[in-house]
Amino acid sequence: MTYQDFKNPDVAQAWDADNRSLNPSRSEQLDMLLTVIADHYQAGKTILDLGMGTGLVEAMLFQRVPQAQVVGVDGSAAMLELAHERLQPHASQYTALIHDFSDIATLQLPPSAYQIVFSVQTLHHLTDLQMGEAYRFIYDTLDAGGLFLLLDRIAVVQGGLYDVYRSLWARQDALHQSKVHGAEGATFAEHQAVVAGRGDLPLGLERHLELLKQAGFEAACMHLQTNRALLVGRRG
Ligand SMILES: C[S@@+](CC[C@H](N)C(=O)[O-])C[C@H]1O[C@@H](n2cnc3c(N)ncnc32)[C@H](O)[C@@H]1O
Repeated sequence: MTYQDFKNPDVAQAWDADNRSLNPSRSEQLDMLLTVIADHYQAGKTILDLGMGTGLVEAMLFQRVPQAQVVGVDGSAAMLELAHERLQPHASQYTALIHDFSDIATLQLPPSAYQIVFSVQTLHHLTDLQMGEAYRFIYDTLDAGGLFLLLDRIAVVQGGLYDVYRSLWARQDALHQSKVHGAEGATFAEHQAVVAGRGDLPLGLERHLELLKQAGFEAACMHLQTNRALLVGRRG
């Protein structure tokens, strides 16, 4: 799915209806992300979501952290429309903005104390350069001591291990009735073509950690399931 695809209302509906069959790790990694937020969120502070989509994560967040205040940003009006429908009961708890993250430096956020920033399955649409800019923006936005959580697809960079990735995707599919093994390509070359065709520009794990550290974060990978990662950074 390219970023542009998400602007199509039919694609937005379809993604909202099925967001797990190509990412069986999503449930567990989201639960980990929400656990960290629930344990660390300070009432009165603001949480920033880069890539709010249809508000699926906010719906779970408001269950776990009923007092949470969120600013959600996304480039797709179609996705945000579904978010507004879903989050009607929480209308006083969030603000949604439309912005393209490829130009994140011009994103003007409502003045607030941003204690947590998170991004789920969104930033892999950015180039390496744009990702570095995004991490600097996130670092500058956060309060001292604030946390950044990234849950996203990362690149398979070790082509010589591609057969091992395939074994583990097949295992996941058997466990979760998902469809990763068939969707990611039979060979590493095919996989790279599939990733490019989707308009995805994922970075490798090491590169993410390098860019996070360059931006000033103390950063670590907290969970990795083949090419799906949960990374956390703290602003010192
Ligand atoms: C796969 S959805 C994930 C939505 C939500 N984070 C979730 O996990 O339920 C990706 C979202 O990122 C948004 N997105 C992707 N690239 C973007 C960009 N360059 N600028 C703004 N939004 C972008 C899309 O519009 C879409 O809503």
